[in-house]
Amino acid sequence: MKGIILHGGHGTRLRPLTHTGPKQLLPIANKPMSQYALEDFREAGITDIGIIIGDVYPEKVKEYYGNGENFGVKITYIYQDKPKGISHAIKLCNEFVGNEKFVVYLGDNILRKGLVDYKNNFETSNTDAMILLCKVDDPTRFGIAEINSESNKIKKITEKPSEPQSDLAVIGVYFLTPKIFTIIDKLKPSARGELEITEALQLLMDENNSIKYETVTGWWKDTGTPEDILHANQLVLDSIGKENQFVIDKESKIKDNVVIGKGTELSSDSSVQGPIIIGTNCKVGPNVRLGPNVSVGNNSILTNCTITNSIIMENCQISANVNLSNSIIANGSQIEANNEQSDHELLLGERSQLKI
Ligand code: TTP
Repeated sequence: MKGIILHGGHGTRLRPLTHTGPKQLLPIANKPMSQYALEDFREAGITDIGIIIGDVYPEKVKEYYGNGENFGVKITYIYQDKPKGISHAIKLCNEFVGNEKFVVYLGDNILRKGLVDYKNNFETSNTDAMILLCKVDDPTRFGIAEINSESNKIKKITEKPSEPQSDLAVIGVYFLTPKIFTIIDKLKPSARGELEITEALQLLMDENNSIKYETVTGWWKDTGTPEDILHANQLVLDSIGKENQFVIDKESKIKDNVVIGKGTELSSDSSVQGPIIIGTNCKVGPNVRLGPNVSVGNNSILTNCTITNSIIMENCQISANVNLSNSIIANGSQIEANNEQSDHELLLGERSQLKI
């Protein structure tokens, strides 16, 4: 079975973070979010992977993943000139997929329990598609599946319904067969100008093909907004240090739910409260309070600050008398402050310079 990771899209809701790279490379617990998808594939034995790259810095994706060798997989890049929809991206993979069953994973989705069981289930079944459903609080934000209570089969799938008939969202992992390609050929762009995956699935059902579903256990996160990214960071950090899956650097020092990378110095008057991850070669202190729910990227220098529930990426310098919470500070940013202590929630794009 082949795997496809969708790494295109605009990422408008994550600006300014996506002005300098695709959103799927933004770090969650110090690891690019699409790497969770890649590792789920690898764990499920899917090592022949196509990555759809779009027009937001596609070369950064190639630079990071290369031919896949360093990640134990083989990668083929497939270029999508404009984000014309998830179904459009899938159609571009026709040649790559050939006659095999395949799995599509949106590169901005993270699934707690991986794919192994779902993949085995789909591989041995005769169904034409299998989707994963997860209960959500706000069904108007997602593609929603309505289930027939008698037959227990999917009745209807609707994209972002204004009057949802269920709270079961179709998550961004789709198990498909090549039948989907002829279905996509029949789609017309939706009101937002995209070939929608929900419409392809609905048409597949309308043409009497079989489609199964499974309900996701454990959490699932779609990381489209800054709030979602911070929440995903928190969910991943919750299990950090307890399960190898989330340990990024094998040489890190790990204690319960605190991971500290090699070469990182923590001054004796500073404190960390897990769950937390600090990358390699960072300097933390003097007088720093970190955590809970904080990720700090490699080579960052933090002095005189308190940080909770935030992501500080690589090569950042925060030398300020500040309390940061619910913040995302992208690579190479610097924050300085005067002596007055102050509280902030910040969203800073790469190489920002802030004097407070
Ligand atoms: P979305 O989050 O729906 O779209 P987006 O990435 O353009 O973000 P925004 O709405 O903030 O502008 O996309 C879901 C996933 O699918 C995401 O990983 C990007 C990917 N994608 C493609 O690869 N190609 C596409 O044509 C589209 C629409 C999305």
